[in-house]
Amino acid sequence: MKILISGGRVLDPTHGIDDQLDLLIDNGRISHLGKNLQAEGAQVIDARGKLVTPGLIDLHVHLRDPGQEYKEDIVSGTRAAVAGGFTAVACMPNTKPVNDSKSVTRYILAKAAAEGFCHVLPVGSITQGSKGEALAEMGDMKEAGCVGFSDDGHPVASGELMRRALEYSRPFGVPIIAHAEDLDLVGQGVMNEGFVATELGLKGIPWVAEAAPIARDVMLAEFTGGHLHVAHVSCGAAVEIIRAAKKRGVRVTCEAAPHHFTLTDEAVRGYNTNAKMNPPLRSAEDVAAIRAGLADGTIDAIATDHAPHHIDEKNVEFNIAFNGIVGLETALPLTLRLVADGVLSLCDAIAKLTINPARILGLESGTLEVGRVADVTVIDPELKWTVEAQKLVSKSKNTPFDGWKMVGAATHTLVAGRISYQR
Ligand code: DOR
Ligand code: ZN
Repeated sequence: MKILISGGRVLDPTHGIDDQLDLLIDNGRISHLGKNLQAEGAQVIDARGKLVTPGLIDLHVHLRDPGQEYKEDIVSGTRAAVAGGFTAVACMPNTKPVNDSKSVTRYILAKAAAEGFCHVLPVGSITQGSKGEALAEMGDMKEAGCVGFSDDGHPVASGELMRRALEYSRPFGVPIIAHAEDLDLVGQGVMNEGFVATELGLKGIPWVAEAAPIARDVMLAEFTGGHLHVAHVSCGAAVEIIRAAKKRGVRVTCEAAPHHFTLTDEAVRGYNTNAKMNPPLRSAEDVAAIRAGLADGTIDAIATDHAPHHIDEKNVEFNIAFNGIVGLETALPLTLRLVADGVLSLCDAIAKLTINPARILGLESGTLEVGRVADVTVIDPELKWTVEAQKLVSKSKNTPFDGWKMVGAATHTLVAGRISYQR
């Protein structure tokens, strides 16, 4: 089975490729990249006027499977992923049960292989049950296929456990992914601490509740030599801590979510529970700092923190609404807005969705090298469309971007050489 993607603008940040080229896929792998390729009997995708990029990789999603399939499952979540242009997603372990053992890891991988629309890369928990009390069987889970470890959704409050996790993960070559949150400083807070919270009469979460644990974890990474990856960076102070640590040579990487570089806490007005997430939407200064961190490379990757929740968990008083929004189907156009705004070059934007997350997770994917598994995304950068929450592929519809006019969308998502999605 051959597929020829012809005449597109091929972008491969890893090799500095930005040229009008044809790409030939044979037997699930990239077999040729060049001008005027001919392939007898190949299915042709006309990519003129489109971008052809390595398959997008989202290193932070919640697939809710096993245990909360009413919100999302591996099938619906990967279907939403390919609709958004993603060919691989790393799924966080805060499922029911928590992915803290090889049996849960194996379940996820088996279901993804049998029914999924894209590659699924399980993230195992750092601690048993993500309770923060004792390390989970990281070695077992790594062997079963986990690409990193995180207690995402919960912080690892104990510095001692975080130290051991960073030490223990080193020989496995996988990152410890920090969900940085000081629960004492968060207290009863439900949105960013500041003017809007005061006006709305809602309790605030100060930025230091995120930045202080990041400072600790960066020092632990420096002390242990382990690879720390900081999830969903949302405030300027966190960017500054990571920027300084990188300058010192600490093994730290980080990601930002589209909502954190697009929206401020003003979006909460009207007690909009689809603007409630953890960490919360921050101030305009913080958004500017996130954008600056993306621009100067402090922030390595863009990851969605796709967090599906049922309508009944959002259609409630702000204080008790669940944290999180769906992100897989809106991440690409929101990232392209950064290009339109002059924050990132197109090449850097694609890198933050492909090779950079691949490197963080130690994957072979993220490039269009000949011989690699053919994970490829074809993007129409001019396609205008409007977000309609009810029409999202994801089982859950909790997006603050309902009704937003977007520019840019994936038109074809190829996973291991098969067309997994076509718009
Ligand atoms: O907003 C969030 N939702 N932040 C998290 O850390 C967890 C996630 C979830 O699982 O819903
Ligand atoms: Zn988190």
